[in-house]
Amino acid sequence: MPIVGLGTWKSKPGEVYQAVLWALEAGYRHIDCAAIYDNEKEVGRAFEEAFSSGLVKREEVFVTSKLWNNSHRFEDVIPALKKTLEDLRLDYLNLYLVHWPIAFKQGVGFARTREEFYTYQDVPLAQTWAGMEEAKAQDLCKHIGMSNFNISKLEEIFKTAKEEPEMNQIELHPYLPQEKLVNFCQSKGMLVTAYSPLGSGDRATSIKKDDEPNLLEAEKIKEIASKYQCTPAQVLIAFSIARNIAVIPKSVNQGRISENLKAAKIQLDGSDMQELLNMDTHYRYIDGSFFTNPYSPYSLEDLWEK
Ligand code: A2P
Repeated sequence: MPIVGLGTWKSKPGEVYQAVLWALEAGYRHIDCAAIYDNEKEVGRAFEEAFSSGLVKREEVFVTSKLWNNSHRFEDVIPALKKTLEDLRLDYLNLYLVHWPIAFKQGVGFARTREEFYTYQDVPLAQTWAGMEEAKAQDLCKHIGMSNFNISKLEEIFKTAKEEPEMNQIELHPYLPQEKLVNFCQSKGMLVTAYSPLGSGDRATSIKKDDEPNLLEAEKIKEIASKYQCTPAQVLIAFSIARNIAVIPKSVNQGRISENLKAAKIQLDGSDMQELLNMDTHYRYIDGSFFTNPYSPYSLEDLWEK
């Protein structure tokens, strides 16, 4: 799996087609997608163009997508995956992830009322995982894993899994290095992918806090960037790479797409890595609060471990 991939969350229709083609032209061979990003059809058009023009072959590109919360029942997993494959114009995914350990009723985009949520008892995570195993058995995806799972939820999966999960995709950057969770995953032989490596400053204002810290503007990051004569974004990407963690910066700008891939050449030394790890403030840009409201059976304490 190529360690740097292109993120497509927040890439708007009208932008993501071009972004994927620029990325493949620049040398990216890993594209991270999800059904809920609502742009898979356009990403699929870019794949079709890239494959038919001979820019890349299907087997050279590592494609990830994610099962949305409304398809956690065993019988809903394969139809959801087939829809993603149809949209992406692919016949298999390299990696399919359970997007969140949270379940909504079928057809619900974002649950708001009590009726729109399932609970863990209604749809145990093991049931969803069995659906993922079936998807792999049918060769609709080569590898299976999850996103946003904490240690206890991973342990729950390991209890009944016939196919062990291979990936946990989680928010990771110097403000949230999550060393305990990363170590746990790696000790179980799982790979880890960092999302929001640049702090996802382009999130909708409805899910942003006014006072959130700006990673790309942090003094320490700028200082390290000037030492390596690179950009702050490249420091943040190199930070994940040095931890052997795949990283999926999102960009729809040709120059920044190419800049981000070049970060793979930067090797941060041990003392700079320690300084970056010391920036840990447990700050989450994606704190999951959009899944909790007075009617939700889920809580932030249940999602994230201290
Ligand atoms: P853009 O798409 O216009 O390049 P994340 O990957 O953490 O979600 O962050 C994505 C945000 O970071 C987007 O606003 C994206 O803007 C911006 N971004 C991506 N690459 C760079 C870069 N090299 N320098 C500065 N900002 C960047």
